[in-house]
Amino acid sequence: MQNILVTGGCGFIGTNFIYYMLSNAGFNGRIINVDKLTYAGNPDNLVAAEKKYVKRYIFEKVDICDTRAMADIFDRYAVDAICNFAAESHVDRSIIEPDAFIKTNIEGTFRLLELARGTKHQLKLFHHVSTDEVYGSLGMNGYFTEHTPYRPNSPYSASKASSDHLVRAYFKTYGLPVTISNCSNNYGPYQFPEKMIPLMILNALEGKPLPVYGDGRNVRDWLFVTDHCQAIWKIMQAGKRGEMYNIGGQCEMANIDLVGRICDLLDDMVPGAAASPRRNLITFVEDRPGHDKRYAIDFSKLTDELGWMPQETFESGIRKTIEWYLDHQAWVDQIKNGAHYQRWMKQQYGENQKPLE
Ligand code: NAD
Ligand code: DAU
Repeated sequence: MQNILVTGGCGFIGTNFIYYMLSNAGFNGRIINVDKLTYAGNPDNLVAAEKKYVKRYIFEKVDICDTRAMADIFDRYAVDAICNFAAESHVDRSIIEPDAFIKTNIEGTFRLLELARGTKHQLKLFHHVSTDEVYGSLGMNGYFTEHTPYRPNSPYSASKASSDHLVRAYFKTYGLPVTISNCSNNYGPYQFPEKMIPLMILNALEGKPLPVYGDGRNVRDWLFVTDHCQAIWKIMQAGKRGEMYNIGGQCEMANIDLVGRICDLLDDMVPGAAASPRRNLITFVEDRPGHDKRYAIDFSKLTDELGWMPQETFESGIRKTIEWYLDHQAWVDQIKNGAHYQRWMKQQYGENQKPLE
């Protein structure tokens, strides 16, 4: 793999993946980053990569659904592997406006697969980045394995499930070399502050309410983003073609406990806030429709076959994450001052987003 097409590289995980590949992964080839730059894509994330890796990093602002532009990119850069991150990724948005999820996540993946099977250059791999949400919801016991039937519950997870099926079908039908990874909840630098962890960090720093859905007892399994990137690269190099691999953090937590821990850590790292202790900011709000109760991942296949284990503990990962948001105020302000973000916050959380007395 010398010319890897990364789609959605200006988003949260894609950005982390590109930095990992250019600096720490032992990869010497080129990364071609294709991103449409939706509200979630930020080209500034990769300015440092553009400067430091002039010959090894290329950015193209293109929609993966645009077959003509994508065919040109395949040819111009002799793409020989694909890592497909590009997606609409936020469950709450998929509940309100599912159209873009169907378009990018399903049709976009389909268009890429069609190009991949028709390319003149020998394609070595189509890696598809997917989610544990395709499996639906667990009760208080058990784990998702690679054999758990798909039972997606939101338009987001249904669109991802659909794209996974297409990728698998292209392996079975056309022999396209594919791998799929299904990962649990990520957190870390560059995550858009509509998602739980960065939203709670930023609201808590500003003394705003911390909106916890329902009773806060829903459970997620948290993984630091760099661990996800390492797992993807391991699968790309040595994963069995045609197979899927679960990735998880061994870090299950109820939402209310997660938010409490973020509050305590912020009280420690940034003391002296008006609203102190920050746990006082926790506000229970209306639940997410169809809210999956619990995700938990059995990733023993990835450990047994490829020797992957998460390296970061939650304690070290969440501290690094908070430090990153504290150190990147300009990045935060650019998003928060944007009309798009302000509209979203108002629509999702109402007028109740002012600092508490
Ligand atoms: P993100 O929303 O932060 O980034 C998505 C990126 O895709 C953005 O840069 C956006 O501009 C780009 N994009 C969207 N539509 C596009 C299109 N039509 N053409 C080209 N680019 C387009 O998402 P993320 O959290 O980084 O997630 C990346 C991938 O990982 C997604 O496929 C998601 O389903 C999957 N995933 C995410 C998590 C998580 O916890 N965030 C966990 C498991 C799997
Ligand atoms: O499991 C992997 C998935 O994790 C990825 O496929 C998705 O792209 C990613 O967005 C994430 O989905 P979730 O819905 O689990 O993540 P989110 O950060 O939106 O929410 C995490 C939990 O926190 C969930 O139970 C809902 C809850 N929540 C979320 C928000 C935004 C709240 O209680 N309040 C909130 O304001």
